Amino acid sequence: MNFLYYCQGEDGSLLNAVREQLGESHRLFDWLNDTDIPLKDIDAAIVWLPPDEFFNGLDNLTHVFALAAGVDHLLQHPSLPAEVNVVRLRDAGMAEQMAEYALYGTLHAQRKMQEFSNAQINHQWSHDISAKAAFETRLGILGAGALGTKVAQRLSLNGYPVKCWSRSEKQLPSPIQSLHGQDTIDEFLNQSDVLVCLLPLTEATQGILNSELFEKLPPGAFLINPGRGGHLVDNDLISALDSGHLSGALLDVFHNEPLVAEHPFWNHPQVIVTPHVAAKSVPAKSAEQIIYSINCVERGETPPGLVNRLRGY
Ligand code: NAP
Ligand code: GLV
Repeated sequence: MNFLYYCQGEDGSLLNAVREQLGESHRLFDWLNDTDIPLKDIDAAIVWLPPDEFFNGLDNLTHVFALAAGVDHLLQHPSLPAEVNVVRLRDAGMAEQMAEYALYGTLHAQRKMQEFSNAQINHQWSHDISAKAAFETRLGILGAGALGTKVAQRLSLNGYPVKCWSRSEKQLPSPIQSLHGQDTIDEFLNQSDVLVCLLPLTEATQGILNSELFEKLPPGAFLINPGRGGHLVDNDLISALDSGHLSGALLDVFHNEPLVAEHPFWNHPQVIVTPHVAAKSVPAKSAEQIIYSINCVERGETPPGLVNRLRGY
């Protein structure tokens, strides 16, 4: 097979890892640096955030291997043909990092670290700020996939009661509880003192983090969103924080990235902004997974991580 590679903003380590693992039997072209790319001979692309014209002329393309867990950008790509198979990364070293990110946010919320930071600014010895214990701080995870499941396991080991919510039924190891479907969402939200969004961004989940959902969370709940910016209605979050119903938010992803300097999240005293760094795919693991998927395709098997384009993930 012949491959075309594009990865926005990478240092070359991923390209080198893919090249090394692909070996001599395949040809790999680098969209950014190679000239005279035989577009009509390209069978598959390996990409992260390719430019709008990227797929033009790739008339014989059958597969796109996404260098990411989330494929929302790719499925909306203006030149991606509708019939091409899209394969995404599963974990690839991201789940551990995501668990750390969620643990950080949960500890921040549970131990009232924002209140201590604010007290410090005013040189206040706020001995009366009291935190709940981990076992009293209920964690709700929207999404029980490769990342949500790992977050659930890690936070459960840290003593938090954990519930996951997904589309289809799951059997997760006790004591993690698993709910699924629209009928259970209210029960799930009512019992989530810390809510982590690890859903894919699809038509069904666009704007899911809105006023209606926030009202169903217990007073003082804290939001952690490393999913996608499109899950969140920004103004609804600001209203929920300003009214005191939500105590804070840790946000990693935004409608437009980089987050513009004027955005109110930057200066909001209850919001922590991180620049889409919650979990980065590990080059060697990503390359290994992509090669495994390529081998599956060549054997005529369905590669793990094949995206259901109708469902959107
Ligand atoms: P995944 O394995 O596909 O898991 C997605 C989960 O969401 C599944 O449990 C799925 O339910 C559930 N889900 C999807 N649509 C739903 C709906 N309409 N209602 C209820 N549940 C629904 O995805 P993943 O690998 O864990 O990644 C999740 C997301 O994390 C990615 O799509 C990406 O946006 C984000 N991400 C962010 C970063 C970062 O650094 N910030 C890094 C990596 C990924 P079923 O199991 O029933 O299908
Ligand atoms: C990163 O955001 C990913 O989806 O892998």
